[in-house]
Amino acid sequence: MTVVHEVLRSGDERVSARAAELYRRELDTLVERTPASAMLYERARRSMPLGVASSFQAAEPHPVYLSRGNGAEVWDVDGQRYVDFHNGFGSMAVGHTHPAVTAAIERAARRGTHFAVTTEAAVEWAEELCRRFGVDQIRFTNSGTEATMDAVRLARAATGRDEVVKVEGSYHGHHDAVMFSVAPSLQLVAATDDTGRQPPASLGIPAVLSALTHAVAFNDLAALEAVLAERAGRVACVILEPVMMNIGIALPRPGDLEGVRRLCSAHGVVLVFDEVKTGATIAAGGATERYGVQADVVCLAKSISGGVPAGAVGGRQDLMGLIGNGVAQQGTFNGNPLAAAAGLAALTEVLTPDAYAHFDRLGRRLAAGCRAAVAESGIRAHVVDLGCKGCVSYRREPLVDYRSFLDTDPVLFNASWAWMVNRGIFMTPGNEEQWTLSVQHEDRHIDRFVEVFAGFCAAVAG
Ligand SMILES: Cc1ncc(COP(=O)(O)O)c(C=O)c1O
Repeated sequence: MTVVHEVLRSGDERVSARAAELYRRELDTLVERTPASAMLYERARRSMPLGVASSFQAAEPHPVYLSRGNGAEVWDVDGQRYVDFHNGFGSMAVGHTHPAVTAAIERAARRGTHFAVTTEAAVEWAEELCRRFGVDQIRFTNSGTEATMDAVRLARAATGRDEVVKVEGSYHGHHDAVMFSVAPSLQLVAATDDTGRQPPASLGIPAVLSALTHAVAFNDLAALEAVLAERAGRVACVILEPVMMNIGIALPRPGDLEGVRRLCSAHGVVLVFDEVKTGATIAAGGATERYGVQADVVCLAKSISGGVPAGAVGGRQDLMGLIGNGVAQQGTFNGNPLAAAAGLAALTEVLTPDAYAHFDRLGRRLAAGCRAAVAESGIRAHVVDLGCKGCVSYRREPLVDYRSFLDTDPVLFNASWAWMVNRGIFMTPGNEEQWTLSVQHEDRHIDRFVEVFAGFCAAVAG
């Protein structure tokens, strides 16, 4: 397979060089601005690998550690305030300390924080998720990782097959079955053969498992068709993010999700939508609702639970009925009362139809402002928005798959991230991420982002 690379024009090279210089300067500023974070980092490194609770939280030169949040804003341990567009990796569509969610958690806490017995709130929360995502039944988990792990197990049990097809360069959590072709290097991508198999993306995963997981490009129905035909009778499931969101944002081409649905049905393969990021953010019923394509199994987490750790796996009755009939799905904290209270309040009181209209309006405003700044400066970038998610990716043309993501300019992203964070815009440090808006974001927060971003574009364009 060939990897196509845009040849950098000399103007783009000058912009990249300026971005590298600007990044160095902004990192120096960041270090000066955040001495308390630097000290906490030194301390945290002694008790936690990389000084963080999850490797995704690590950052150069050190993480900016937060102490609190309120509404659309967060404060770091140095006492500096930011408008939050990171929003807990996309988990906080409700915003911070939302009165309805906080009240629900307080009420639940006073009644007992954990029983490991199902409460009525958990039942109501399950009913609301079934309604939103068009599934018959759901089971709760504690994370998106557990949700996709359970989905793969259900698919294997239902089909009696072992193999998994996923999308090249996609992340579905850190359990073994999906830790292949997560963020492969250019060299690895170029060396991948037509079976789409790759070595494990982490030490500690048996290499033999790479025989079970195949990767195909997003938006490439022909490749999917070929692998399903070649592996006929062996593939249990196709798992994909209906909108690919761990590379910035790649939208499905018109008809693509319908095509994936058709191919899975034709081959007796379980279709799993990983809606951990898209669920409850790009529409009430996530991509399932937005694109009108129904998967067999849906995986949820992040914004479905108002900022309390939780996930869910849901599907048709014939699949979910396997739980209790041979398929193991369990967990001490599944459906925990605090999570159920927060999730139910988030979905029924906060993330209402008005909230999704608000996301669409603010998202469009933010994207339009960023697009104008990009056009004015002439830097190579494009902007996408979808509900409360959106991003600037440093490539002129929209992304279609992981290989097009490899064509983005990480130097420009790094410089933009440091520039923004030094000016009070809190963003995720990684060009594979996107912004997440909350119901508590207002026009002034959006306008501040645009103002700071436009300053970056002008600075880097020279
Ligand atoms: C698409 C997708 N699936 C699954 C996961 C795993 O979720 P968690 O971090 O809750 O385990 C993530 C996490 O970022 C994700 O983005």
